[in-house]
Amino acid sequence: MVAKILIVYGTTEGHTAAIAQRMASAMQAGGHEVDVRDSSEVRKSTIDEPYDGVLVGGSVHRGDHQTSVRDFVRGNLVLLERVPSAFFSVSLAAVDSDGDAQAEMQATMDKFARESGWQPSRVEPIAGALVYSQYNFFMRHVMKMISKQHGQPTDTSQDYDFTDWDAVEAFARDFAAGVASGTPVAAGS
Ligand SMILES: Cc1cc2nc3c(=O)[nH]c(=O)nc-3n(C[C@H](O)[C@H](O)[C@H](O)COP(=O)(O)O)c2cc1C
Repeated sequence: MVAKILIVYGTTEGHTAAIAQRMASAMQAGGHEVDVRDSSEVRKSTIDEPYDGVLVGGSVHRGDHQTSVRDFVRGNLVLLERVPSAFFSVSLAAVDSDGDAQAEMQATMDKFARESGWQPSRVEPIAGALVYSQYNFFMRHVMKMISKQHGQPTDTSQDYDFTDWDAVEAFARDFAAGVASGTPVAAGS
């Protein structure tokens, strides 16, 4: 079966938008129909089109996902519970596999679940990017300090993309295949 899938993403510097587009391309290559929406455009919308599956994602800034993602989720809980759905979270914490980073990601997800009212059955952490070239003077300094603490690159003359794009495509393909076959991938699989 061909699935009709909605991807809603929140982004601040644009990296999650690129991830959402890459997911859509991977699904479309499998013959699925995909709509991609920026959460800032649909934050107040209630979706009533007949989607077979929904992916929602956002990036983390100062311990939070975009409020537009939270608002979209709050307004579409019925849809997210009715069809197979999953959440992807883009952050620098996802670059690290140590216990502190895992705890930080869990705390961020717990907060999101509390505030949005949605407990996604699957959460996919995705390593994001450090785009020093896009940060203003102050932010570049702050991000350099944070990166230093976490053992990440501090050479601000370059940008760094930590995303495993093959894994992004594989996640999207698996999700779409699960939706199409009626056996969506379970949490942690
Ligand atoms: C001001 C700022 C604050 C950030 N705060 C966090 C954070 O608290 N935790 C984290 O893991 N990553 C943090 N990041 C990293 C972003 O999640 C990462 O750069 C991501 O790729 C941004 O995606 P976007 O371009 O779609 O917004 C922060 C980035 C910036 C610029």
